[in-house]
Amino acid sequence: MKAEQILVVRQTWAQVMPIGDAAATLFYQRLFEIDPSIHALFHKVDMPAQRRRLLDAVGFVVERLDSPETLAPVLADLGRRHDGYGVKRVHYETVGEALLWTLEQGLGDAWTPTARAAWHAAYSMISGIMQRAAEAPDAPRARRVGETAAASA
Ligand code: HEM
Repeated sequence: MKAEQILVVRQTWAQVMPIGDAAATLFYQRLFEIDPSIHALFHKVDMPAQRRRLLDAVGFVVERLDSPETLAPVLADLGRRHDGYGVKRVHYETVGEALLWTLEQGLGDAWTPTARAAWHAAYSMISGIMQRAAEAPDAPRARRVGETAAASA
């Protein structure tokens, strides 16, 4: 990511943080509205704790956007865990859409085309690393019955 974009992501995230829990609530509402089937993935999840984990994770990433070598292994692990939660490639698109929509609601006038492009770049980077790790041949996922190691690679 470009340095100016990292700066914009940090500045706008700092603006959202004071209303973090409300923003995270709005995010999950929007996510389940766009794709109600996603609700099933969260049926046993403690949502107040999940909102905190999401905010912490995004905050962690936003602080380290200028240090991709630190981020990559952390995001790869997160991506592999998400494979275990049943998260599929298409879900990343929906989450990205809900995230950008939520930021737009929270930021109002500060949601400029520049801010949108910067967040789009950040989310593409984050979700790309997570998805590639989840889909890597050595990802620890269960093989389907009858599937050979070669076919799963
Ligand atoms: C930028 C992308 C994402 C980030 C930063 C993120 C962050 C997190 C974090 C920090 C957790 C807590 C558990 C852990 O650390 O493993 C979590 C759990 C979870 N995430 Fe994500 N996530 C992302 C994308 C997604 C997507 C695309 C979905 C699918 C709709 C999803 C569904 C879930 C579910 C279902 C759990 C709960 C797992 C459980 O406790 O059973 N996440 N996420």
